[in-house]
Amino acid sequence: MKEWVSPNTTTGSPAVGSNYFDRKDIEKEFWRRVKCGEHIRFLAPRRVGKTSIMKRITKYPEEGYVCFYENIQSVKSMPELFERIFEMVLKCANKGAKAKTWLAKVTSQFSIKEITATGVKFDRQGLDFVKELFSLLESMTEVDEHVILFLDEFPEVINKLRTNGKAEEAKDILHKLRELRQTGRFENFTMVIAGSIGLEFVVKKIARPNTITDIKAVRVGALSHTDAKALIQKVTKGASLQYNDAMADALLAKVGYALPYYIQLMLDEIDTLAQKKEQTKVTKKIIDEAFENIIRYNRNLEDWYTRLTETYDGEFKFLNEVLIACAKHNKLAIQQIADIALPHNLDADCVGLMDDLCNDGYLIEDDNHIYSFVSPFLQAYWKRKFRIL
Ligand SMILES: Nc1ncnc2c1ncn2[C@@H]1O[C@H](COP(=O)(O)OP(=O)(O)O)[C@@H](O)[C@H]1O
Ligand SMILES: [Mg+2]
Repeated sequence: MKEWVSPNTTTGSPAVGSNYFDRKDIEKEFWRRVKCGEHIRFLAPRRVGKTSIMKRITKYPEEGYVCFYENIQSVKSMPELFERIFEMVLKCANKGAKAKTWLAKVTSQFSIKEITATGVKFDRQGLDFVKELFSLLESMTEVDEHVILFLDEFPEVINKLRTNGKAEEAKDILHKLRELRQTGRFENFTMVIAGSIGLEFVVKKIARPNTITDIKAVRVGALSHTDAKALIQKVTKGASLQYNDAMADALLAKVGYALPYYIQLMLDEIDTLAQKKEQTKVTKKIIDEAFENIIRYNRNLEDWYTRLTETYDGEFKFLNEVLIACAKHNKLAIQQIADIALPHNLDADCVGLMDDLCNDGYLIEDDNHIYSFVSPFLQAYWKRKFRIL
């Protein structure tokens, strides 16, 4: 047998470089909103492709913009967050060509020794970074450079503060950041936040929803059928296993909700199985087998469950019961959901919570208020976890 060539899959870490599949519609919407002066949030469940898109935009920004991306998950307090953003502004401006004079001024103002992509060296003693960030952005308006900061995992920071008894601090952060966006003076600054837990829900618990409603949501969802097929072709280019039109359709039918992650997982698993069986053709049978293996062995599906336990408190039990019922019956009407909510005393919140499940990518609602799982993977995972036969 010829030497086996596996497909060029990325399954887990963000897709970068030649592994990135263009998500032109999302990128286009992003730039349209930035140009309208809006601040943006990419909020979607894990492994939908947020980080990949942000890294792509950071690397290839449109003319006149300079971007900087950081995962801020480890931030533990309000001062730390503002210090981090302060540094990000400097590191970002440092990447651009037009901010040199301004940077030189700021560098002497703060006695900064060095700015590199990884850090800024200077004496931080006694600085109030909330105040300093405002004045930094104020002075940046004189610069002909537009800075875009990507703060990945932002809702996680807010939620961690909330669950660690620091809800007031979390609320202060939301208010201060809103003030920063709303002053209207910082025209050449855009803030982008992203994260995998439901920000709306976290915010609802500690502050008024209007602390975030001005940040425009850019949705990251599934690929179109045509794009999904193009992704299969791209990833399997030169590989031993090739997908004809019928087999690509069969794979996508099995995947249901065409997230690049699920498609790549399937390509990977089918490849492993085919090598084991010394099979050189893709068949319907091997596609089904790969799907079953992923449900059984893929630990990442567990994230979808854990995420609910981390985000919700008293509501978790109700939401899980809804998902179990949905997994079992395939479809659930709003009346049935109201019945589940009743013993939890959540009947008044039930529609809002169902909206959260839809916004977070678990369920979809049709025109008749019937809910079902977005992804067959998730439904099969819930069935298996709760032994629904
Ligand atoms: N644009 C893309 N091109 C190719 N694969 C992608 C793309 N976006 C996401 N993926 C797939 O999804 C996985 C997770 O992507 P990532 O950007 O880390 O998602 P998120 O930040 O939403 O958790 C990647 O490992 C890859 O399998
Ligand atoms: Mg991510």
